[in-house]
Amino acid sequence: MKTPRCFVTGGTGFVGRHLIRHLISREIAVSALTRDQDQASALESMVARPGLFHTFNGDLCQAEGLQEWLRDGGTIIHLAAATPAHPSSGYRRVNVEGTRHLCAAAQRCRARFIHISSLNASRVTGAYGQSKLDSEDIVRQSGLDYCILRPALVYGPGDTGMLGRISAAIRNTRLAIIPNGGQNRFQPIHVDDLCEAILQVFADPRLGGRILEIAGEDIITLGELIGILRQGTGRCSLPFILSPSLTRAVLHCVGMFQPQTRCRLQESLTDRVAAENALPEFGLAKRDLAQELLRAYSS
Ligand SMILES: NC(=O)c1ccc[n+]([C@@H]2O[C@H](COP(=O)([O-])OP(=O)(O)OC[C@H]3O[C@@H](n4cnc5c(N)ncnc54)[C@H](OP(=O)(O)O)[C@@H]3O)[C@@H](O)[C@H]2O)c1
Repeated sequence: MKTPRCFVTGGTGFVGRHLIRHLISREIAVSALTRDQDQASALESMVARPGLFHTFNGDLCQAEGLQEWLRDGGTIIHLAAATPAHPSSGYRRVNVEGTRHLCAAAQRCRARFIHISSLNASRVTGAYGQSKLDSEDIVRQSGLDYCILRPALVYGPGDTGMLGRISAAIRNTRLAIIPNGGQNRFQPIHVDDLCEAILQVFADPRLGGRILEIAGEDIITLGELIGILRQGTGRCSLPFILSPSLTRAVLHCVGMFQPQTRCRLQESLTDRVAAENALPEFGLAKRDLAQELLRAYSS
């Protein structure tokens, strides 16, 4: 039987590392696009399956080379993005133009396209969400066989995003800053559940042409999330609750010196709850959110 194969962008990121582990454990051959030789070597040592796993040096912002990478066709799982946690290359440059380059290369090879977007594209409140929504439009209009997943906030071991950063900040400063009175609502999804859903989309072409919001089962406030993360540090930390008006004032001050940081913070301080959660379609086992968060973020 022929080994199933896929092409992964963003394999060095938080979700990408987990996804590659899941794919390889199912004996799916993976070719990962990486920008940096050291990162590529680290990923190859982590996977340790030279027959099933290869890296290819390239950058989404440079169209040249992408077609050579995809030469043999197959399924592309597009995770790479400039994210609020790592925005340095610019949302539009990577998320919109990079996706355009990748789609153009995929069209020439008639590849299938699994696009990892974001719940931020469902209700756009800032530049990141807008760039993810625009990237979806490119995929939808490409004529490719596609499926778009819009994950909610993703959590799990190795998270360098929002929860990982809050947890590290609490650990380092022993201060838990809780903006907006802790009222914002989230519906975090475990990284392993997201990876399982991606695997099911990979295996089932009938999911083609759909845009699926995917979130965890539980809705939790930011205040509750930070409470669990404080517990996870195992140290005494001081909660510092900023009321919504004080939060606005702080954001205003930040904006005077760093307007982009203000926009980023503002975008992360909006409710992120799925209107139509596709999670039940994937038939995954229920998780205890508090327990999983403690497991993922405890020191
Ligand atoms: N984490 C979440 O809570 C969450 C929630 C919803 C949706 N998502 C989506 O899920 C996907 C993965 O998120 P993540 O948290 O794993 O992100 P991440 O940790 O920030 O990783 C981003 C990845 O994109 C790669 N990348 C960035 N610019 C690139 C470029 N120009 N060319 C090639 N690769 C580039 C990075 O490579 P380098 O290592 O070389 O920088 C890295 O592998 C993203 O599309 C994100 O929008 C994430």
